[in-house]
Parts: sequence; C-alpha cells; structure tokens
Amino acid sequence: MLIEQNISLKPYNTFGIDVSAHHFVSVASLEALKSVLVNNQDSKPFILGGGSNMLLTKDIKDLVIHVNLKGIEIVEDKDNHVLVKAYAGENWHEFVLWCLDRGFGGVENLSLIPGNIGTAPIQNIGAYGVELKDVFERCEAIDINTQELVSFSKEECRFGYRESYFKQEAKGRFIICSVTLKLTKEKHNLRTEYGAIKGQLEQDNITTPSIRDISNAVIAIRESKLPNPKEIGNSGSFFKNPVISKEHFKQLQENFPNIPSYVVSKEKVKVPAGWLIETAGFKGKTFGTYGVHKQQALVLVNYGGAKGQDILELAQLIQDTVQRLFGIAIEMEVNII
Ligand code: EPU
Repeated sequence: MLIEQNISLKPYNTFGIDVSAHHFVSVASLEALKSVLVNNQDSKPFILGGGSNMLLTKDIKDLVIHVNLKGIEIVEDKDNHVLVKAYAGENWHEFVLWCLDRGFGGVENLSLIPGNIGTAPIQNIGAYGVELKDVFERCEAIDINTQELVSFSKEECRFGYRESYFKQEAKGRFIICSVTLKLTKEKHNLRTEYGAIKGQLEQDNITTPSIRDISNAVIAIRESKLPNPKEIGNSGSFFKNPVISKEHFKQLQENFPNIPSYVVSKEKVKVPAGWLIETAGFKGKTFGTYGVHKQQALVLVNYGGAKGQDILELAQLIQDTVQRLFGIAIEMEVNII
C-alpha cells in the first residue's frame, strides 16, 4: 500500500483548508483497511471520509486513512421495500440520485447534503423534516483496536439530533465501512410538511409530488441559501440549534418579540441558531478570506486561503456574543481538529 508523505488535505475537506498530512493512505477495500490498521497499531490513525464536517486547524501528524470503499448493492428486495447497502466512500448525494433513478423513496429530503455515506450515521444527517435514522437499518464498522467488523442496529447507534454513539462514547473507536438503509418502492412516505418545501412545491405548481419533485424542491431551496462547497469552502451548519427552557424563551420574547422557535417538549423549545447569529449582527460579515454566509448565518465560509484557526476564532467570537446577548450557549456541530 502506498503511504504518501506530506500531502495537502485541501482537496479532502469541504472547507478547503490547506493543512498537510504527514502520512496519508487511501484504502479501497476492507482487506486493505484492516492491513493498514494492523501495521499502525502503535498510534491512533486519523480517519478521513468526505471531510464535510470538520474544521482543520493544524497539520496532521498521525497517519491519515482516507476511506475510499465503493459500491452500492440491493441486499433485500420485497414488495414494498428494499434494503440498500452502500459503502462508506460513496458520495451521499450521488447515492440519493442512484435511489431516485430506481424509484426508491426515503432519502429525497436529504438531497444535496455534502459528504460521504460513511459520515452520515456519525452525525445522523438531517434536513427538511427527515433524519438518517428514519431510514436506517444497520451499519458495519471496523473496530480500530481489534480490526473486527461489527454490525450496529439502529438502537445500538443511539441516534439523536446531529448525534450518535459514534460521536459520543465510541468517538474515535470505529471506522464506518457501510450503511444499509430501508427504502420504499411504492407508497412512499412523503415528507412535505417543512415550510420551505411546501412553498417551493407551490411555486413549481406541483400538487401531487413524486419523490423526484421533493428532491428537486430541496435542491432548489438548498442552492438558494447554502453555499456550494465546490465554489465557497464551508461545512454546512457550523452550530447546532440550541434547546432552551420555555421560561428562558418567554424572557427573551420580551426583548425580542420576533424570536422564532420549534416546540421540543412541554418544557423545552429549540431556537434557530441562524436567527441568534443574524440578530447578533454577524450575517454576511466578511473578514478578508473568511466570514459568515450572507444567506444563512449558521454557515461559516472560507472564500479562499483562510486558516482553520481564523475560522475557529470567529466561531468563538460568535459563541461569546450570542451568550452575552441571549444567555444561550450555542454548540459547534463541526469537529474541530
Ligand atoms: N434563520 C434566520 N437567519 C438565518 C438563518 C435562519 O433568522 O440566517 C431562522 C429563520 O427564522 C428560519 C429558521 O431560522 O426560518 C430556520 O432556518 P432554516 O430552515 O435554514 O433551518 P436551520 O434551522 O437554520 C437546519 C439544519 C440544516 C438543514 C435545515 C433544514 C441544523 C444545525 N441545521 O437549519 O442542516 O438543512 O435545518 O432542515 O440543524 C447542516 O446540518 O449542515 C444543515 C445545513
């Protein structure tokens, strides 16, 4: 296996940050992955998938393993559903298009999310009323310490809002190799209740949408407010939407009558971090090579040549300002490396 030295990770992270990997290997099969792990037992490897949920702030000294396992297969085909297994190195959106081409429903609301299949369960990707967990059947992952291939059910993954077992207790322990999803062949469970989707379908004069229509609507919405990482470096939402008590929310309403919210439970509400950041005055702010996106304040961007450390400092300034103005601690969604 070819281990390359001192290569730039710029093409491997959607933020487009230019740091280097001291040692880098790309693996395209399970056997190759196992063998790299066996030969690298003295140090912890750095696992790189689609690079869509990380901010690189320094060079990586550990061995970088780029997981490039490919393949999509139907592993079960029943009257109204299929189980589709996709390998970790497949691009998520291309997988969504593969499903649409075959009329398989369930992932259309998750169109155009950057990143690869292998990253999807780690943060339980979600958008427009659907999360990966809604279609998730199981995944297979290699235990870095034992090189054993382990299968995880949905329950074992302990999915939450942008959360899973792999981001919590098992952080850094497993490498996701494949994900199997349960998708519908007919009688699709169409999710159009999310405001922006309804509006987009109405605008397109679509009254009985197909899964393809929903995907197209999601693509149009995302393209209108989220920057394309191929053009402007970014990692999607940089922060999570915070959950606060109803009491705290009522207090805030006195000063900010327009503050939006979504009900989470009897006692709790979720507040869009994008609104907090915009109200704090950061939306569209540019600091030379980086800044806050002008259409969606939740997204930090690299216009080219920014350092990860600069973006991290901006994120911390945003956190401090939001804390001071609203008494809310907003948590970063992106992994800081
Ligand atoms: N808002 C503002 N200003 C902004 C952005 C948002 O005021 O600059 C307020 C508005 O009230 C708007 C509301 O926030 O109505 C919701 O905005 P949006 O529909 O864009 O959703 P979001 O809560 O900001 C979340 C996800 C996105 C996902 C969308 C749609 C998180 C952290 N983000 O954003 O996920 O696409 O919902 O479902 O939950 C991602 O994770 O990378 C991502 C893009």
